[in-house]
Amino acid sequence: MSFVIYPTSLYKFLKIAKEQNVEKTVLDCGAGGKRPPLALFYLHGFKATGIDISNKQIKLAKGFEEVYEMELDIKEADMRDLPFSDESFGCVFTYNSSIHLTKKDTEKSIKEMLRVLKKDGLLYINFILNIEGRTNLGEEKDPGEFWMDIEGEDVIHSIYSDNEPDSYFKDTTIIFKEKRTFTVNNGSKHYTDGYIEYIIKK
Ligand SMILES: C[S@@+](CC[C@H](N)C(=O)[O-])C[C@H]1O[C@@H](n2cnc3c(N)ncnc32)[C@H](O)[C@@H]1O
Repeated sequence: MSFVIYPTSLYKFLKIAKEQNVEKTVLDCGAGGKRPPLALFYLHGFKATGIDISNKQIKLAKGFEEVYEMELDIKEADMRDLPFSDESFGCVFTYNSSIHLTKKDTEKSIKEMLRVLKKDGLLYINFILNIEGRTNLGEEKDPGEFWMDIEGEDVIHSIYSDNEPDSYFKDTTIIFKEKRTFTVNNGSKHYTDGYIEYIIKK
């Protein structure tokens, strides 16, 4: 069995969740794919639940669950309309997933994620940072919303200026925020990218 490395940002979220003693129930919105980050929380004793809009992505995650003998409980649903009651989870996160929504839908899905989060629960979310001269995300059809063809599918990426997402979190407390840029220079790949990450307390 090979060793799996999860996204570093989620280790920070996990650490803060443990320090704050939140209930060990977690929902991942956009949880599918071949290496589901929800597994990190499962390994740390959380009751895991995930949703994803793509059946193909859910199947990939199920393959991972089988190999690593985990129960991540990932079902098909849309993060803009979550099939859970109010205040159901101690933690909610969306990693590299709400970045594929329009800004209007991002606002809608954040309202949903905060609705299903318990009082004093924690939310992690990341946004793509607007980097001067960015050319790698296709055509800008609406301000900050870029569309590109990925393997025959029209895929959106929304991008944000430094403090732009703050307005989504007016009725909550931003307990951690990080703006990070990085440069990749690896053979044929050479680019600068960046993210803004938030941990929110309800
Ligand atoms: C780039 S993948 C990231 C997957 C996973 N979070 C990870 O880090 O490996 C984005 C995921 O978001 C899902 N997604 C996109 N829009 C969604 C929506 N409205 N509701 C739920 N999932 C969605 C996609 O199907 C895809 O699995």
